[in-house]
Amino acid sequence: MRTLIQDCINNKSSKTPIWLMRQAGRYLPEFRSIRKENQDFIKLCLNTKLASEITIQPITRFDFDAAIIFSDILLVPFALGQQVNFKKDFGPDLQKIDIEKLNNTKKEDFLKKLNPVYEIIRETKKKISEKNKDTIGFVGAPWTLLLYMLNRKSPKEGNFNVFPKNRDIDNILIKLDNFLKIHIEAQIENGASIIQIFDSWAGLVPEKDLDYFVYKPIKSLVDFIKKKRSISICFPRNIDNYKKFVENVNPDIINIDYNVDPSTIRDTIDIPVQGGFDPKILLQNKDIVRDEVTKYLKTFDQKRYIFNLGHGVLPDTNPDMVKYLVDIVRSFNG
Ligand code: CP3
Repeated sequence: MRTLIQDCINNKSSKTPIWLMRQAGRYLPEFRSIRKENQDFIKLCLNTKLASEITIQPITRFDFDAAIIFSDILLVPFALGQQVNFKKDFGPDLQKIDIEKLNNTKKEDFLKKLNPVYEIIRETKKKISEKNKDTIGFVGAPWTLLLYMLNRKSPKEGNFNVFPKNRDIDNILIKLDNFLKIHIEAQIENGASIIQIFDSWAGLVPEKDLDYFVYKPIKSLVDFIKKKRSISICFPRNIDNYKKFVENVNPDIINIDYNVDPSTIRDTIDIPVQGGFDPKILLQNKDIVRDEVTKYLKTFDQKRYIFNLGHGVLPDTNPDMVKYLVDIVRSFNG
């Protein structure tokens, strides 16, 4: 049976599906209580029982139309031999890249390290099997992963320069292409019905380098997902020109950020659109939330649109507001 998201992108339903990036996360007290007892974030991502439970938490509460696996894009550098820590109030902290280790990583060892992720997908599928919902797997795009692997932390103003295009960078991008496909394939084989590609730092790439760092590497993954008969969603966050991205990459669904004008997107892009709603609005009062959500939905009325945010749910968001949001989206459809 087709899911609501699949009906939406095939123009078979006028109902707007809804799920949220970071729907399983720190704004939920039931997540925080597990997190408190599990200080090592990577270990938590690889704990089949807890990670599948966390994946289901927002489904139980809000009945979202899709479950995104509780995991992280930085598990790939981790499985390629680069140590990753998550420091409180700092974010990811990566050990210096070891090219030897990267070059010598074997497919079997990579899959063994990430095997819990595939078990989490199977567990999640089992838990929602009666609900006819999508299970969303994901990867970081090569550019964003390259950036974390070399910059070793989130890029903040002043601490980051775009890398030169040279043989070393070429080599890392080729390895990433290879292992991301292995990771994508295993997620699909274990039950992910959609793969979202997060290029969170696409907005940092200068126009002249977009082809090399963004379009080409992502298109390679999107073509692979198509070959596997799965659905691709791309989120090249803060990119200047989403239309050009879509023309170059041709994903099934494009996720937009909250800095772009949604009506321009609607008028210039023909493929299904996801997201865009500013997560900060959910910190406002209910009247504002109702007005803004309704305005957003009206912009995409009659279009193939999946409600989501322009970035993840903020930790300070009140879960009651998320419930309110879901009610508005569902009642907008009658
Ligand atoms: O969306 C979901 O609910 C699924 C889970 C998910 C997480 N990370 C869990 C997480 C997903 C899809 C991601 C993707 C991810 N991870 C991205 C791309 C999306 C984006 O946010 O731009 C990036 C860049 C990362 C890397 C990462 N992981 C960062 C920069 C951080 C620290 C910043 C932060 O928000 O704390 C993380 C940690 C992380 N990943 C948390 C969660 C729930 C918070 C961990 C905690 O409890 O401290």
